[in-house]
Order: sequence, then C-alpha cells, then structure tokens
Amino acid sequence: MTATTLLSTAHALTASGKGILAADESFPTIEKRFKVLGIPSTEENRRAYRELLFATPGLGEFISGVILFDETIRQKTGGASMPETLARIGIIPGVKVDGGTMALPGFAGEKITQGLDGLREKLAAYREQGARFTKWRAVIGLGERLPTATCIEANARALALFAALSQEAGLVPIVEPEVLMDGDHSLARCEEVTRMTLESVFGALFEHRVALEHMLLKTGMVLPGKECRQQAEVGEIAEATLRCLRRGVPAAVPGIVFLSGGQSDVAATERLNAICAGGGAPWTLTFSFGRALQDAALKIWKGSPANVAAAQAALLHRAKCNALAVQGKYSADVESATV
Ligand code: 13P
Repeated sequence: MTATTLLSTAHALTASGKGILAADESFPTIEKRFKVLGIPSTEENRRAYRELLFATPGLGEFISGVILFDETIRQKTGGASMPETLARIGIIPGVKVDGGTMALPGFAGEKITQGLDGLREKLAAYREQGARFTKWRAVIGLGERLPTATCIEANARALALFAALSQEAGLVPIVEPEVLMDGDHSLARCEEVTRMTLESVFGALFEHRVALEHMLLKTGMVLPGKECRQQAEVGEIAEATLRCLRRGVPAAVPGIVFLSGGQSDVAATERLNAICAGGGAPWTLTFSFGRALQDAALKIWKGSPANVAAAQAALLHRAKCNALAVQGKYSADVESATV
C-alpha cells in the first residue's frame, strides 16, 4: 500500500506538462528576498505572500506540487491549513525537512546539511499535517581544491538517511545535492563535480536501501560558474546536462526536477526547454524552481494587497512558460504573450 502510494505520488509530481513550485525559503532566505523590496519579514507577511502564491487562479494547470517551509505548513488560509488548501485544488503539498547548513568541521569553506536528529518523529507529524513528499538540500561549493571527497560523501550519507526515513514514513523524498553556481569554474568543471556528486549520492542511496522508484532527484543544470569568463550557449548547457545525468542517474528514478540556482527566470526557462527538447532521457524531466518562478511576482507584490492580482498573473505566466518548456514548446512568442 505504501509502495503504491509512494509510486503514484512520485508520478503525479512529475506529471506531463507540470512542475513543482519551491516556496520553502527558510527564515534567513525569505528575509533576504523581502528586504531588498522593503517588505518586513513578519509572520503575517510571510503567510500573506504564500497565500498569494497558492491562491493564484489556474496554478494547478501547471504546478503539480508545492514545497512548503516548516512555518507555512502550520499556517492557515481562509480557515484551512495550507496543505488542505493546496490539496483541494489538486496540488500535492510537500515540505522541506532539512535544518539548513553548517560549516563542515575541519574543511574550510565547505558545508554539511543538518537535521537528522528527531527526523523520524518530525516526518510522522508532517504526514499527519498533509505532506506527501519531502525535500533535503545539500550544497556542494566549487573553488580551489573544492569540493573535497569528504564533503561530498558526508552530504551523500545524510541525503540517503533522509531519503530512507522519508520512505519509511510514507513520504516521497526529493533528494537535492545542489552544486552551486558561485565562482569562476568552467562548464566542464561543473559537469565533473556534478557527476562525482551523483555517483556518491546514488552509492549512498543504494547502501541505505532507498527505493529509487519512490524518490525524485533535484539537481542544478550543468552551467559555468557565474564569474566564468566563458559563458555557454543554451545548446552546450543542454548537452552537458543530459550527458552528465545519463551517466550518473539510474533509469529507475522516475523523475529529475531542476532548481534554478540564481539564473534569471527567462534563462532558466530557455535552458529547461533545450534540455527537455534534447530527448533520450529515461526519466521525466521537469522544474522545481524557487526564484525563477517567484521573483517577478514578489517584485510586483512588494507587500501590498493592491498588487496581489498582478503578482499572481506574473507567477502564472512563469509557471506556464516552464510548463511549455518541459514539453520543448517554449519560445520568445510565448514569453512575450500576456497571460
Ligand atoms: P531556486 O530555484 O531558487 O534555486 O530554489 C530551488 C530550491 O528549492 C533550492 O533548494
């Protein structure tokens, strides 16, 4: 029964022409995003903002699931909890369950994601609250002599424990080892590190007896670092990303979802379109963007109720563009069309 539920959730999350909205910014992250627009990060502003996103008319046409933050899963909208509200409109609620990163002792500049203590109990509570899937993000930074194998392996181990605990609790884990875009590394170096990371993560998942059919992988696209002088064409990015994933991700995994990682929203959509149009992938490919879905909407909203409808239209537009991109049907005309 649990296996059937996990399988159907994993497939529903990667349903054709739909993707996942990541709205699971932690307190420091949402504060940073609000601050540049002069929006105070109060509990009510965070609730109102997430309510705006989830109440976007028609969102369920393009969005299969939403990743919530711990605070949001317990907040209400119109008398119902956020997960109830999402489920009612056919969107699957999920939750970020990691506790953020801390410095990896002995490894200057590297990080380990924390949050395994008490996770079994937390997962049971999240399931009661309506969550059907979970997410854990590990970060792998590139730099001179970085990342180390120790950093990759420590994070892979934590990801595997998180995934095994999630499946035990009847929740589909989204396993997210994010290779960061920060730095001046080349496209080839990003591909190499992504490949090493995937190898380590899937090794740990195998050792911890995680059912690959009942999980999703969340990864970055293979990109040159933000400060790299030689930026890459869309076609090169799609080719490198597909090659890297084909080499590193078993075909038993039902879906791979991309994070946006600091790319502009339009660039993320163009690249997603090229990757998905590439073909020959044994898994379903789709998006699980945070910033690339939300940035335009947040800039319009600015904390004012008067801007809610315009902000929702901006979110719906990005969701639609990305939903077309996963079918390889995105174009400049679609981008410039008004919703
Ligand atoms: P971005 O798309 O903004 O990178 O966020 C996705 C996410 O969930 C990171 O954990």
